[in-house]
Order: sequence, then C-alpha cells, then structure tokens
Amino acid sequence: MADPVHLRPVTTEEWPRFSAAMSHVFGQDPGGPHVDAPSPVAELDRSLALFDGDQVVATAGIYSRELSVPGAVVPAAGVTWVTVAPTHRRRGVLTAIMRRQLDELHEQEREPVAALWAAESSIYSRFGYAPGSWRGGWRGNAERLRLRPDVDCGTGRVRLVEVAEFRPAAAAVHDQVRRSVPGDLARDDRWWDRLLADEPAQRGGGTARRHVLHTEIDGTVTGFATYRMRPGWTDGGEPDGTLDVGEVRAQTPAGYAALWRYLLGIDLVRTVRAHLAPDDDPLRFLLADPRAWHARPSDALWVRLVDVGRALSARRYPARIDLVFEVRDRFCEWNDGRWHLWGHPAGAFCDRTDRDPDIVLGIEELSAVYLGGVSLATLQAAGRVTEISPGAVTLAATAFSWPVSPWCPEEF
Ligand SMILES: CC(C)(COP(=O)(O)OP(=O)(O)OC[C@H]1O[C@@H](n2cnc3c(N)ncnc32)[C@H](O)[C@@H]1OP(=O)(O)O)[C@@H](O)C(=O)NCCC(=O)NCCS
Repeated sequence: MADPVHLRPVTTEEWPRFSAAMSHVFGQDPGGPHVDAPSPVAELDRSLALFDGDQVVATAGIYSRELSVPGAVVPAAGVTWVTVAPTHRRRGVLTAIMRRQLDELHEQEREPVAALWAAESSIYSRFGYAPGSWRGGWRGNAERLRLRPDVDCGTGRVRLVEVAEFRPAAAAVHDQVRRSVPGDLARDDRWWDRLLADEPAQRGGGTARRHVLHTEIDGTVTGFATYRMRPGWTDGGEPDGTLDVGEVRAQTPAGYAALWRYLLGIDLVRTVRAHLAPDDDPLRFLLADPRAWHARPSDALWVRLVDVGRALSARRYPARIDLVFEVRDRFCEWNDGRWHLWGHPAGAFCDRTDRDPDIVLGIEELSAVYLGGVSLATLQAAGRVTEISPGAVTLAATAFSWPVSPWCPEEF
C-alpha cells in the first residue's frame, strides 16, 4: 500500500513513469520532448514520488529559483509537479508532500521562501501559501486600443528577429529589469531554453511564437516582446484575428511604448489578449481610451514564508519599521510566536522576541504581504489581522508596501 511515509526522490530511470503520472492527472496525453528524459530544469534530487507497487501515484518537485522581492533577490523554492492520482486522493498524500517539502527546507536551511502557481485556489492556503502577486489577464478590441497622441515612443526601432538573435538580447534585458520587479524570477540558459521551446502542442491553435526586439539608434537592445497570432475571419469576410501577447519588457518608458505601438498596430487583428500581463501594466496609462482595457485579474504567484526570520530579514522596507509580530503558523510551528522586525530602505533584521506584540496575524497573511502587493490594512479590514498597538497596522502596511507591484511573468 502506498504510505506517504515512503515518498522519495525519483530516479532518471523512473522518470518516464513519473512524467506519465503527472500528465495523466493534469488531463494531458503523455507527449513532448521530456517524456523519456527530464528537462534540463528538472532537479530530480528535489523531486518526490509515491509508488503503489510499480505505479507512481503522487508526484512533486522543487526548482531552485532566485526570486525578486522588495529591494533584494532571495533564493526561493519553486514548488511544482504536484499531483496525486485520482485513485489515491483525499488520503492525506498532498499534506504529506507539503510536510516533507517544508520540513526539509527548514531543517536544511535552504530557501527561506517557497512559491508556486496553484492549479486551484482552494488547495494551498491550509499549508500557509497565499497569493502574493496578481496577473492582469486583460483583453481588448484592437480598434479601440490606441496609444495617446502625446506618448513618446522614442527614436528606437522595433525589429522582428529570429530566436537565435532574440535570446541573448532578451536575456540581458530581462536580467536587468527583473531585479526591480518583486515576483520575477532569474532565468539561466536552461530556463530560457524552456521558455522559448515553443512546442506545437503548447500553441493552442496559434502560430509559432514571434520575437521582437527594441533597439536604440546606436544598436543597443533595450526591450523585447513575444506574441502569437490566431488568424480568423468573420462570416462577412472581416478580419477577426487574435493577438496573444506574451512578455513585453523594456528598460525605458519610450521602449515600452514603442513595443506596444508595434503590437497594437499589427494588421488583421480584432482582439488583443495578454493573459500573464502585470496587474498594474503601465500600458493602461498609455492608452487613449482606458476603457478599451478589459481586465480580469487573478492570483498568480503564491508565496509561503518558510522561515519568518530569514525571509523578513532578506527584503527591504521603504519606510522605517520597528514592530513585534505575533505569527500563528500551525503547519510550520518553528515560525509560531513573536518576531521583532526592524527594517528600513537599506537593511532589515528579524528575530525572536519576548516583547508584547504590536500585530497578531497568521502565516498566510504575512506571506501575502511579503512581495509588497497586498496591504496589511486591507487584510485588517477583512478581519484577518489584529492590531494590538494603535496605529501599528498603518505603519506596517506602509513599510511592507513597495512602489513596483509584484508580477511573475512565468508559470512553472
Ligand atoms: C490537489 C491534489 C494534489 C490534492 O491531493 P490529495 O492527496 O487528495 O490532498 P490531501 O488528501 O492531502 O488533502 C488535504 C486537504 O486539502 C483538501 N483538498 C485537497 N485538494 C483540494 C482541492 N482541489 N480543493 C479543495 N480542497 C482540497 C482535502 O479535502 C483535505 O482537507 P481535509 O484535511 O480538511 O479533508 C490532488 O487532488 C490533485 O492531484 N489534483 C489535480 C492536480 C492538481 O491540481 N495539482 C496541483 C497543481 S498546483
């Protein structure tokens, strides 16, 4: 019988069974380039598998990532591959996986923060995860999506390029811009390989991914964008295509505007969509008609503070903070109790204390505000944060906020 106590890393030889088990649960037929051998981003020593006889009945994994947080970058455990076979659901296997992952991260003093994309929003709260970033998920009618006449698109050029030229230039731009965006993740060559793989099965009826670069007149690349086209025609013969925008990044406002001027000007498009776009995309403020933007924001990257002291010490705080938090964490009891946080824009320190608390809150709430995109004041208004010292929530909400909204442009 498959007892979760026997969860263990999978071997390379066992990978095909592990991968097939994941595909099955996610409702996919096994396929793609990594059915027989793991992809280069896979870290099998950080995987967990549960076997019932020869059969893999549960899977999980962790990617070692580097996550941007307010004012810093921290190592983050990117939780992935979480499945339990329909035959073995609701017997505590996921709970055992979460237990094992978080215990190991804590005991081995690995990443102070864990992050994941949730297939369903009802799964991970009980384990202390909370949405820490949001995606804009917007769409609009191409005819109405026009830039304001006063927008400065600079003097650079937007060029459609082959992936071989795109990749190193985009990687350099990304590595520069991602550090200032909480929620963004570092990408080494393996991650760029994965991002740009563009398997036909992942195109969802669209074209191959198109790649564009924004180049200044001196030849320096300062921005990039990706998209797919979905051509279509109405019964009356009118163009009815869809433009699926991927990632748009630029080092300058003019470069950003120029990339969007290009994207919004593509012919034969009726609908423009950007599924993973940031929740507070500057594009909204570039549009002549902001109501052309129809957004349906939803949770994106979920965050869990694995070790409160190390995690809170690692980020920066735009306003000075010197408060005691009483944290309730039933799943990871090493976090449970009082923590003194002292922080400011250039440094922070968080440690255990016996002092009386200023604020009482759960680990979910603390994890939610970690990237700076959720306000402690909002959580207080929702009854999820208790203020003991008058004014403490206002102070803490200000110190935990961050001028750049969190955004994770990459699902993993
Ligand atoms: C989600 C999934 C991993 C849960 O596995 P599981 O082994 O059945 O979970 P557990 O038995 O440990 O459940 C723990 C608790 O979470 C609850 N729970 C589990 N899945 C849930 C879901 N999808 N929605 C709401 N609650 C859920 C259980 O009811 C249980 O609560 P209880 O202790 O109060 O009874 C499994 O259903 C699955 O593989 N789903 C499809 C793939 C998927 O969504 N993976 C997540 C990718 S991010």
